Amino acid sequence: MLGFLGAIFTGLLAVLCDGVGDFDAVAYGGVRVQNGDHHCSGTVELSLHEKWETVCGDGWDLRAANVVCAELGCGVAESISHGAELDPDGGGAITLTSVHCSGHESSLIHCNFFFNRLSICSSQNNAAVKCSGTLMEPVLTVRSSHAVFSVGESVHFYCRIQPRNRISNVHLYKHGVDTPLVTQSADPTQIRVSLVLSDVETFQQGSYSCQYDIKGGSPPKLVRSPPSDPVNITVVDLLTPQHWYNTSSDSPAGSVIKGESFNITCSTPRQYPGASFQLRLVRSNGTVRQSLPAASRSVTFTFANAQSANEGYYYCLYRVQLGGRTFVSRESQPLPLAVKDPDPLLSPMVISWLVSGVTFVIAVVVIFTVAKVVCNKEKKPSELERETRTYVWTSRGLNPSPSTSGPQQTGSSSQIPVAHPLLVAAGNC
Ligand SMILES: *[C@@H]1O[C@H](CO)[C@@H](O)[C@H](O)[C@H]1NC(C)=O
Ligand SMILES: *[C@@H]1O[C@H](CO)[C@@H](O)[C@H](O)[C@H]1NC(C)=O
Ligand SMILES: *[C@@H]1O[C@H](CO)[C@@H](O)[C@H](O)[C@H]1NC(C)=O
Ligand SMILES: *[C@@H]1O[C@H](CO)[C@@H](O)[C@H](O)[C@H]1NC(C)=O
Repeated sequence: MLGFLGAIFTGLLAVLCDGVGDFDAVAYGGVRVQNGDHHCSGTVELSLHEKWETVCGDGWDLRAANVVCAELGCGVAESISHGAELDPDGGGAITLTSVHCSGHESSLIHCNFFFNRLSICSSQNNAAVKCSGTLMEPVLTVRSSHAVFSVGESVHFYCRIQPRNRISNVHLYKHGVDTPLVTQSADPTQIRVSLVLSDVETFQQGSYSCQYDIKGGSPPKLVRSPPSDPVNITVVDLLTPQHWYNTSSDSPAGSVIKGESFNITCSTPRQYPGASFQLRLVRSNGTVRQSLPAASRSVTFTFANAQSANEGYYYCLYRVQLGGRTFVSRESQPLPLAVKDPDPLLSPMVISWLVSGVTFVIAVVVIFTVAKVVCNKEKKPSELERETRTYVWTSRGLNPSPSTSGPQQTGSSSQIPVAHPLLVAAGNC
């Protein structure tokens, strides 16, 4: 109220004393801001007749302040304030009062005001401005202690900014992409703004920076800060490895002959420096792991002497340490491997053939032996038979001669003895 009355009074006084029309524009020597926190902020002073004069804060507004900022080459006016906040002791005499600008003037001198050295406007109330100036670079950091991420993770950035009244938005830019990937609004009290890049993909690996906008001037417009220093992030995508086995012999599929050498090769489609392959064998009684550095895309685990302990399901995985974190791929499909005894010389079939063959031979030999024995018995006729024959011949009137009878006699063509069945068989012997 007092200020308002003061302004009216000052205005009246100004009209009475000097008035607007009396001001000599040729006497104008420029504008400056003093005692602010940077070279584009402070109390406004005009050089008139080679003397720095201050401006009364009554009626001082953003439009007038914006004219000052533009004239100074200090961007846009972010805020206005009054001298007491900057310089409690006050400046010199206040000579410009009731400044009124449309906002488009090229200099404060072209705005409407009263020039009055006898102004009663308190020096505590001189006009001040905070222009945007060249906006300070923000500082971008990654919230986590590492800058290497796995596909699908979220990356949390912080963009640190100077607290500003008229800050509007903070943007996250990827190097080489014109539009911001993330935009976050900020409030004036924030000194850092969180920017989240969620569900990252490998193509999002790269260099990032942030920028902020401030709204200023009159009519209001957005002014963008310079970008922060870049921050690089790496996005790791470990693809599932492939694996296969090779063995020296042509053993049946899925198996290795005991004692033979074999090897298992693990291969990855995408390589990272310093990575390694891990081969895991799952046996019926436990799991065995071994690792080899992945100097190239594929690595071969060799086994010189296949034993039953090598039997089981083999899995490959790819692991790498990057930026202090360990990344592990998914395991490959299981590769079953059996270890077989070498082919026996006598297979069961051969053995059964051999057994039946031997049995057959033995049977034949037995039959022949029996037959021979019987046969020999039949060839030597018994005493009774000999006597019977002798008797037969004797009764036919021949001189029996036991000593000369027998085999010699039976060979006689005239005498055909009765054939015995066993003799027939023996004759075939
Ligand atoms: C970020 O990556 C770029 C290339 O992508 C490289 O030139 C720059 O040196 C890296 N900066 C840092 C801090 O690692
Ligand atoms: C190893 O095994 C793979 C797959 O079974 C086959 O493609 C490759 O030719 C074999 N390599 C050798 C050297 O036997
Ligand atoms: C793996 O086994 C195959 C077939 O036995 C052989 O040709 C190849 O040289 C072996 N590779 C290594 C690295 O031992
Ligand atoms: C598992 O069995 C294999 C032979 O089949 C043997 O060499 C190995 O020591 C056994 N492991 C355990 C933990 O019992």
